[in-house]
Amino acid sequence: MKKYLVIGNPIDHSLSPKLQNWWLKENNIDAIYDKIKLEDNEIKNFIQDIKEQKIAGCNVTVPFKKTVIPFLDKLSPEADQTQSVNTITFENGDLVGHNTDIAGFDTAIRKLNFSVKDKKVLILGAGGVVPSLIFALKNMHAQEITISNRTREKAENLKVLFNNLKILDWGDLTDFHMVINATSLGLNNETIDLDFSSFGRDKLFYDVIYNPQETHFLKMGKHLGCKTENGKTMFVYQALEAFKLWHKIEPKVNKDTFKFLDND
Ligand code: ATR
Repeated sequence: MKKYLVIGNPIDHSLSPKLQNWWLKENNIDAIYDKIKLEDNEIKNFIQDIKEQKIAGCNVTVPFKKTVIPFLDKLSPEADQTQSVNTITFENGDLVGHNTDIAGFDTAIRKLNFSVKDKKVLILGAGGVVPSLIFALKNMHAQEITISNRTREKAENLKVLFNNLKILDWGDLTDFHMVINATSLGLNNETIDLDFSSFGRDKLFYDVIYNPQETHFLKMGKHLGCKTENGKTMFVYQALEAFKLWHKIEPKVNKDTFKFLDND
């Protein structure tokens, strides 16, 4: 039986096994999907196991999306530009790194009927997922992308991958149409100490976090009368794209998919 895995550290919280196994069953595919917590020094051997086809493929989550790159043979153009890999396939003898976070985020935004074109986007955070957000936003023709991160240097480093980024000190704010929380603040119910009240109601507050379903950041957006969205749809569609890469089948996504995931 073919085996797929998600690797990360921590990994306990990952909903990927639940979703991927549901789709495997639904599509009568004889395979299983599991999760494994790895340390940095275990990545090389793990990836060798994919090359030897002991493992059929994997997803990669925080903090290994960049770590895996030196051990792969090829990168998709999206993975290359973002230097971020969340899905590994084995194709014609080559280990290939893909980035399906971009398509996941893109689909999530399109489903909101929110047009990013010519809009100003403020991203809080500069961690692993941010290059994928920037790639998708640029593709959607955002007018201006501003990054604010506690450690300013990490935000500045993103300029190596992307041009025309604006960098803002942590704690400062600038006008925006869409603000994204891409920090880990909110995972444990922490608040973000920023006052958005002077920017008006017609904004989109987007949080990459989906557990809890509504972070303090999203509550703040809602309280101000703005549209809000968490990262659940992005999660589902990045998983869908990975499933398509491995199995060449598009799995079904509907209300039941979300209900099933929410039952945790
Ligand atoms: P990684 O940085 O390893 O990719 P991540 O979970 O993807 O991890 O990113 C965590 C993000 O949350 C970072 O932008 C981090 O800011 P730093 O770069 O300064 O570490 C941000 N973050 C975490 N705790 C924070 C806090 N207490 N206040 C502000 N930002 C915080």
